[in-house]
Amino acid sequence: GKPSLPRKVNSNQSSPKGQVRAAAYNIAVLGAAGGIGQPLSLLLKMSPLVASLNLYDIANVKGVAADLSHCNTPAQVSAFTGFAELPDSLKNVDLIIIPAGVPRKPGMTRDDLFKINAGIVRTLVEAAAEHAPNAWINIISNPVNSTVPIAAEVLKQKGVYNPRKLFGVTTLDVVRANTFVAQKKNLRLIDVDVPVLGGHAGITILPLLSKTRPAVEFSPEEIEELTVRIQNGGTEVVEAKAGAGSATLSMAYAAARFAESCIRALDGDESVYECSFVQSEVTELPFFASRVKLCKEGVEAFINADLNGLTDYEQTALEALKPELKASIEKGINFVKQSL
Ligand code: NAD
Ligand code: LMR
Repeated sequence: GKPSLPRKVNSNQSSPKGQVRAAAYNIAVLGAAGGIGQPLSLLLKMSPLVASLNLYDIANVKGVAADLSHCNTPAQVSAFTGFAELPDSLKNVDLIIIPAGVPRKPGMTRDDLFKINAGIVRTLVEAAAEHAPNAWINIISNPVNSTVPIAAEVLKQKGVYNPRKLFGVTTLDVVRANTFVAQKKNLRLIDVDVPVLGGHAGITILPLLSKTRPAVEFSPEEIEELTVRIQNGGTEVVEAKAGAGSATLSMAYAAARFAESCIRALDGDESVYECSFVQSEVTELPFFASRVKLCKEGVEAFINADLNGLTDYEQTALEALKPELKASIEKGINFVKQSL
């Protein structure tokens, strides 16, 4: 047959100064026609590192793909509509991003979405296991505290689980924490970085304000106010949208940042750190969001140091979140085990 051309840029070949690196990575967005999926796909289309963008949804994805494909950036956009086209959407992809599922309405918890979204995530990850077993997976669909363990369990059953490549996207919690802290303390936004640990729902969201960089002093009142606002950021948007859904634009921004970090790590950048909800060793819980260092193979290391020297407030919050997070993790695992 024809000799095949190397698909990826060798990351050891650094590009000439001033030139943008060639597009090299293939991404599938599952749920691409949704509130998050559309702006996320736009942001990914703007990345010079993305070679192809496969947009999958159960409906309405053709128009989104046609629209996006007119942007004069390198990524080749393709539409895949309906379950029969799911396998093709996953061929040769390096990264699968999953925002498929229903969003909250006022009065609901993220766990109220489990009934519908658990099955959606299970089905999509089953397909990922079969058609893209080596891809990195970013899970956005809520409840993240359960959907990531669901994904892990599905991948295990299919014999292709690599815990280093499965990520729950909690970047929006970090984005919110950075924004709210910068506003409160009059800091330059670009400088502020707050690690957010634990999970992605209510009190399981644990902002470590004492670890804010640059170092900032907070009064006890400020800590309480900022912590509660970060934990309720999602609800703040759900209520403002008054029945029309939850965060989509800030989420797309956060997911694009996280995806870009994944691709940069894949591309050989050795200085990529992000908070993410992953299979974890930093506490006794099997999954936990913490800062991780990424490398070409996925998670390279956990930044355990973030958990040293916590304030009493943070230590109490950490202990308080564990039972709820543990229950959400077990609920996800049992969902897959029981359906065997
Ligand atoms: P949306 O309803 O606007 O879009 C969801 C999309 O998923 C729709 O286009 C729908 O057709 C599609 N979909 C449904 N079932 C599908 C299936 N089986 N296969 C493929 N696609 C399917 O919702 P949204 O606002 O985009 O939110 C999506 C999810 O993201 C929700 O579960 C929401 O709670 C979650 N979310 C997570 C975070 C986070 O921080 N991790 C932030 C915001 C929202
Ligand atoms: C968020 O944090 O905005 C998302 O998890 C959506 C939600 O339901 O709050």
